[in-house]
Amino acid sequence: MSTILSLQGVNKSFGPIDVLHDINLDVKAGEVLCLLGDNGAGKSTVIRLLSGVHQPTSGQMVMDGKPVTFRNPREAADHGIATVHQFGGTFPLMSIGRSFFVGREPTRWVGPFRIYDRRKANEIAVKAVQNFGITRIDDGDRLVGGLSGGERQALAIARAVHFGARVLILDEPTAALGVKQATHVLRIVNEAKKRGLAVIFITHQVMHAMAVGDHFAVLIRGAVAADFHKGEKTREEITDLMAGGASMSALEAEIAASA
Ligand SMILES: Nc1ncnc2c1ncn2[C@@H]1O[C@H](COP(=O)(O)OP(=O)(O)O)[C@@H](O)[C@H]1O
Ligand SMILES: [Mg+2]
Repeated sequence: MSTILSLQGVNKSFGPIDVLHDINLDVKAGEVLCLLGDNGAGKSTVIRLLSGVHQPTSGQMVMDGKPVTFRNPREAADHGIATVHQFGGTFPLMSIGRSFFVGREPTRWVGPFRIYDRRKANEIAVKAVQNFGITRIDDGDRLVGGLSGGERQALAIARAVHFGARVLILDEPTAALGVKQATHVLRIVNEAKKRGLAVIFITHQVMHAMAVGDHFAVLIRGAVAADFHKGEKTREEITDLMAGGASMSALEAEIAASA
């Protein structure tokens, strides 16, 4: 698969605080890259660089073989980088159809007036979500606030794909979901990958990562501590890596000794 986006020797500091150290990562089309790591490891900071919220202090980002700079989220979005946050990032008081289009609503003319084409918006939004296998969403007038967490994620992902995203970034999409909802989201992640998107999936949950991941990178204190592919490490090895290299069994022994 071809590399869409790379981080090459990227460092990020906030004032005197060095948060990311020499990050090298390749993100490929049709692949799910799982970004793993404990709280504070730097996962969200990596994502904020890719999505134009922050800029690298040094090093570079390369897209389609050319160095790129995203001065703001708009520029990253214009390059086809879509970020979906834990709660889908959509507006609870908007209808499904509206929230799908915010800012890009289809319109129609009524006499001299151009008005929001509600019926068309609903039809496109519902179809896009159903294409991802979420057939329970069949009414575009329903409010986003009435959807489950998994359905909101589905809506946000379908929206990104509809508007031509090439890189889909999911920051802890399954963290607040129950097992069934999380399964739905994982299926959609897989579906997005099958459509050729590059997916960056951030999670704490090793099982979720293993269910969909092709490529894994573990961050520890702002550096890539391990970079490997599906099948190269066991669940236990990944869990140990995420715990910062301290093996789970050593941790358990320590807890038992201090009890
Ligand atoms: N804007 C900022 N200014 C200073 N420190 C920051 C800023 N953003 C993140 N950090 C620090 O960078 C480290 C990594 O944070 P973050 O990327 O949010 O980690 P993660 O998402 O893996 O939990 C943390 O120690 C955090 O306090
Ligand atoms: Mg984070």
